[in-house]
Amino acid sequence: STYETITVEKNAGGTKGVTLMTLNRPKALNALNSGILADLTAAFAEYSEDDTQLCAVLTGSGDKAFAAGADIKEMSEKAAADFYLDDFFSPWTSEIVKKTRKPWIAAVNGFALGGGCELAMMADFIIASDNAKFGQPEIKLGVAPGMGGSQRLTRAIGKSKSMEMCLTGRMMSADEAERANLVVRVVPQADLLADALKTAGTIASMPPMAAIANKEMVNAAFEMTLDQGLIMERRIFQILTASEDKAEGMAAFIEKREGNWKGR
Ligand code: HXC
Repeated sequence: STYETITVEKNAGGTKGVTLMTLNRPKALNALNSGILADLTAAFAEYSEDDTQLCAVLTGSGDKAFAAGADIKEMSEKAAADFYLDDFFSPWTSEIVKKTRKPWIAAVNGFALGGGCELAMMADFIIASDNAKFGQPEIKLGVAPGMGGSQRLTRAIGKSKSMEMCLTGRMMSADEAERANLVVRVVPQADLLADALKTAGTIASMPPMAAIANKEMVNAAFEMTLDQGLIMERRIFQILTASEDKAEGMAAFIEKREGNWKGR
């Protein structure tokens, strides 16, 4: 299917099982307007339902921005009642993240500010180009993060740094973001997409149930007590041992060959 504000490529660049989604409003630094919101929500639903795809990469078009935030021009026209009654940003913060059980990576290729930073942090992990800049500058617009920034940034980099970022609205360089554990690694901009697609390709080559289960387990660490999380982990582990791919994966190891996954 086709979208107006994003592009979607399955088996991107020939990488089997990897869906590449690209925010495509480069003239507005890929600002997140309601069109992108609708397209991205639909694209994630399509990705979730497509059994041939097992890892997605989200990036921005152009070499300047992943996304420079929610669309300020669009927001400037809305009243508080519009935001509240429409529960504006709700699909971003809940549906995309919680309903996408399969892994996805944010490849941040420039500015990731406000809603752009928040969108990147919804990914399972972030790979950044060397010119990436992260920030929650909403305070300068008289508002505050509204798509999870105050919560996810704080969980990712801790209270002091998150508080300083939100209260000053300053930008964080890619290197600082790596030191703060906001991103897994920083690569030269020219290599970003190849690196992200290769990493996604590795994930997409895994047994699908195990990939989904591993994601579910790590995410549970943010939602549960340690005891609850350990029980959940053990139960999912036990369920996986009943899968055909567990039998195949262990046989493949013993026979010194690659696994041939059934996805069951
Ligand atoms: C709408 C935006 C935009 C945005 C950039 N543009 N960011 N349009 N919404 N968030 C547009 C500009 O208006 C301009 O269009 C074009 O993109 C290029 O931007 P410039 O400012 O000319 O580029 P530059 O000088 O290089 O500066 C880059 C920048 C700056 C530092 C990233 O654009 C900037 O500060 N943007 C806003 C960042 C921000 O505050 N984000 C948080 C938004 S609030 P024209 O047509 O003028 O050429 C948010 C809230 C989410 O995200 C949670 C809900 C409450």
